[in-house]
Amino acid sequence: MSASTHKPDNGLMGAPHGNDAGKRDFLKLVAGAGAAVGLGALAWPLIDSMNPSSDVLALSSVEVDIAPVPEGSGITVVWRGKPIFVRHRTPAEVKSAVDVSLAQLIEPVADKDRVKAGHEPWLIVIGICTHLGCVPLGNKPTDPRGDFGGWLCPCHGSQYDTAGRVRHGPAPANLPLPPYAFTTDTKIKIG
Ligand code: FES
Repeated sequence: MSASTHKPDNGLMGAPHGNDAGKRDFLKLVAGAGAAVGLGALAWPLIDSMNPSSDVLALSSVEVDIAPVPEGSGITVVWRGKPIFVRHRTPAEVKSAVDVSLAQLIEPVADKDRVKAGHEPWLIVIGICTHLGCVPLGNKPTDPRGDFGGWLCPCHGSQYDTAGRVRHGPAPANLPLPPYAFTTDTKIKIG
């Protein structure tokens, strides 16, 4: 497998939200990524002894073109078998994330510590609910996003705000941040 530039994948965006079809689509996506990673892991001892190519090393990172993601919407890409939410926040969504009092938060973290300086509209989080690991809804503007405008986990009702911070349990923690960097204003590299 080679380093790939992922165009925004509509696997989740195009699927009916919250239903089995959407979950199946996502599972297919994850299963494919998992199989690829598994193959890489199996092959690793041999390849490692042969000076691994950049193609092999690239399994650990994914480059994403974020230019086509409209404001107010988001996409899901897969990195190391995990769903990564890339959300293009509106000015109002950024403002609500910045303005909230940290005292109101279950896991208090300022918005500025969850985004990259100079790229505040973009929130990149690992899309796995910190309760029991479901994939929350909310990337599409038509998805349910809960009372705080971010994501709603349909499994047990946890809600996240527009900074991906948990605002309503039972999830105990914010959506985690993956390692990533902006390589240009419209491209990010995850991993
Ligand atoms: S897994 Fe998300 S609320 Fe339970």
